[in-house]
Amino acid sequence: MQAVHEFARFKAEHRKISIVTAYDAWSARLVAGSHVDAILVGDSAAMVMHGHPTTLPATVELMAAHTRAVASAAAGRFIISDLPFLSYRQGIPTAIAAMGALITSGAQAVKLEGVDGHEDVIRQIVGSGVPVMGHLGLTPQSVNQLGGFRVQGKSDRAAADLIRQALLLQDLGCFSLVLECVPAALAARITMQLGIPTIGIGAGAATDGQVLVLHDLWGVGGNHAPRFVRRYVDGEQILRHALDQYDADVKAANFPAPEESYT
Ligand code: KIV
Repeated sequence: MQAVHEFARFKAEHRKISIVTAYDAWSARLVAGSHVDAILVGDSAAMVMHGHPTTLPATVELMAAHTRAVASAAAGRFIISDLPFLSYRQGIPTAIAAMGALITSGAQAVKLEGVDGHEDVIRQIVGSGVPVMGHLGLTPQSVNQLGGFRVQGKSDRAAADLIRQALLLQDLGCFSLVLECVPAALAARITMQLGIPTIGIGAGAATDGQVLVLHDLWGVGGNHAPRFVRRYVDGEQILRHALDQYDADVKAANFPAPEESYT
């Protein structure tokens, strides 16, 4: 898998990796035309696209549908898809079927959260030739156990446990690891200890790459954005302005113009 080797090379060469989420064909087309290195079809689709308060309602069918849409518009780009809640917690055959649904929908790799209790599943997926990206720190599928969307690994004990899990994911054959909402110093320690690239979100600047939710960086993710989000454009304001201009043109009979009509 060329992209996986590129990720390893980027780490060796200290070249940062950029990843954004996409869930649909039109945004995937825009990302595919940019220099961004990879696309994550995140289970955040449940929140961003479907308005749920957590990622828990995402299903394999939903993730496969979003993966197909993204793959249709981003051929040749490295696409990683999230294995959704419980899809890899019901034994190996169920996990392999879920992974198969995402890969045959156009993903080249899958991401899953945590490690303890599903080491055998990770080993099996990697062994079947599919690259696996780990995800530690704030793992949104465990939001109810974590007590909310909050920073993880703050105590010495929690930090040591995250380092243990990161090393275990590497040993199991993961090609990369997302670190979400962990103190920057801890993310830096993990990044130094691992041979595989770390991808941060709310994990400071020392990770080997960054991932952001596309809607957050485009400023179309609503008013509340976590501290780690950088808005590169106020997309909501621009899009609302376009809508109001359209509305005004229609009401003033300025749209359509003759050149926008058929003879
Ligand atoms: O689902 C998602 O978008 C993610 C990223 C935030 C890492 O897992």
